[in-house]
Amino acid sequence: MKIRHLILGLAAAAATVVSLQASAEMGREEGLALAQQSGCLACHSIEKKIVGPAWQDVAARYKGNAGARDQLIVKVKAGGKGSWTEVTGGVPMPPYSPRVSDENIAALVDFVLSL
Ligand code: HEC
Repeated sequence: MKIRHLILGLAAAAATVVSLQASAEMGREEGLALAQQSGCLACHSIEKKIVGPAWQDVAARYKGNAGARDQLIVKVKAGGKGSWTEVTGGVPMPPYSPRVSDENIAALVDFVLSL
């Protein structure tokens, strides 16, 4: 009966992994609520450029780019310009660290990249 226990144990472990992934990726409502609360929506929307680029354009640009997550986390923490000059006319993105926590900045970047 050891094999049966092993199988049940593996099934339970797999279920845990699935639920952890689900909670790590925020849904649209949740992501927008965090963005609202963090002040991002003054300059961004999902579909269109406001002051900063549309977040779906950001997601499209970095699709398949393995280094993008870390790079964007640094950008949101420290601010900066130059990546979207053709869209923004060279306006800088303000720095968000430490007024937004590292955890929330990572969650916001994951949300943007999921769009
Ligand atoms: C005052 C306006 C403003 C606010 C507020 C703002 N942004 Fe931005 N954001 C910009 C601009 C302008 C750019 C383009 C910067 C560039 O050209 O490199 C940008 C770019 C970005 C990018 C793409 C960066 C890149 O290098 O491709 C991400 C991701 C982003 N913003 C996320 C956020 C998040 C998350 C927040 C809230 C915590 C936020 N922004 C708040 C103006 C803003």
